[in-house]
Amino acid sequence: MSGSTDQAPVQVVIWTAKERASTLHEALKALGWHYPFAQSQVNNEGEIGFPCLQTEPFSTEELRVLKLKAVEPFTFNLQPIEITGHSVNPHDQLKRSVEAWCAHTVTSDHRQTLLELPTKWERLGDLVILPEEAFHSAQWNEVLSHVEEAEKTNLWQAVAQSLGGARLARQAQILDNITRSPQLRLLHGDSAWVEFSDYGVQFGFDAEQVMFSSGNVTERHRIGSIDMSGEIIVDAYAGTGYYTLPMLVRSNAAHVHACEVNPASIAGLRWGASANDVEQKLTIHQGNNQDTLPSLKGLADRCHLGLLPSSQAVWAHSLACLKPTGGMLHIHMNVEKEHIEQWRMDTIATLEMMAQEAGRPWNITSIHLERVKSFSPGVVHVVLDVLCRVRA
Ligand SMILES: C[S@@+](CC[C@H](N)C(=O)[O-])C[C@H]1O[C@@H](n2cnc3c(N)ncnc32)[C@H](O)[C@@H]1O
Repeated sequence: MSGSTDQAPVQVVIWTAKERASTLHEALKALGWHYPFAQSQVNNEGEIGFPCLQTEPFSTEELRVLKLKAVEPFTFNLQPIEITGHSVNPHDQLKRSVEAWCAHTVTSDHRQTLLELPTKWERLGDLVILPEEAFHSAQWNEVLSHVEEAEKTNLWQAVAQSLGGARLARQAQILDNITRSPQLRLLHGDSAWVEFSDYGVQFGFDAEQVMFSSGNVTERHRIGSIDMSGEIIVDAYAGTGYYTLPMLVRSNAAHVHACEVNPASIAGLRWGASANDVEQKLTIHQGNNQDTLPSLKGLADRCHLGLLPSSQAVWAHSLACLKPTGGMLHIHMNVEKEHIEQWRMDTIATLEMMAQEAGRPWNITSIHLERVKSFSPGVVHVVLDVLCRVRA
């Protein structure tokens, strides 16, 4: 077996001026990125460097998250770091656990090829969700096909524990149906019901039955940071409350009308409303929003349209839901990177035309375009904030 776990690991080190060091340190700990038991460092300019768990340069998404935490200015590089105690880096833990399992369970012929380990995973509460390809190579499939169930259980349990969880699941392709049901397979544990708190908001749902995108965390926090005091909101694609709950709990919305077709998502939404004590401020409209939105005409200050690749199917309905004096739309869309500005202009023109046809000759302006994340090569998930106002 390789002895690389004893060498100094090469990690991202993030640097900032001494005065900003404690802010950055707190932010890294809050994000769970801080590498425990690693020495902070000082460079020739007197800047302080904090080792992080990341082993590749920060992604655009990670840089955006850091920016939101107001920790700028900073720089980062990749370098060997000094460990002062026992390493709890989950990558190391995972490698050690799998090596130990292999040594015990797998013949030496197979061991060399087995250390093909996942480098990314997601954690919802104590459920660790591995990517689709994890432990799924031809070699892994071959080995696992010859292993007793009890040994497999030992492996999945060790993997879950190494990554800070108690249960383990593997993601599969999200089904392209109306409810975007995930094909998630539980590898270890009795149920896929998860409960967790993010940004002060409690979420709960059955991860085998609903889709939840952790990649949209910055957008969820952005929406939860807007002051919506006293506002009536329509959430056209409420899901488990990914945006509905932050709007109620953090943005102080007076009431949210949540449209949702998937009963499993509604079960999560109800659980979240109760856990966050906002049941009195939530009305759930179960069914296809093409049928439910027309009953919400003229009552909203704001409509949230969170469906990908496009929410255009409800643009006209949502304009009709706004109060006669107008309001705000948050429009989600997947757009090709080089056509974002054209899409923004086309969207405003389309909304103006739809409003005009509905007898609402409003002034419609885009006030912000948020680039949420890269969805696929060349395609960006964006959210356009659109203000609709009666012409003076
Ligand atoms: C992208 S997901 C939103 C997920 C949600 N933001 C969350 O994480 O819980 C879209 C949601 O819209 C729901 N949905 C899709 N089409 C719908 C429709 N026509 N009417 C009502 N709900 C719909 C799906 O069931 C799903 O929960």
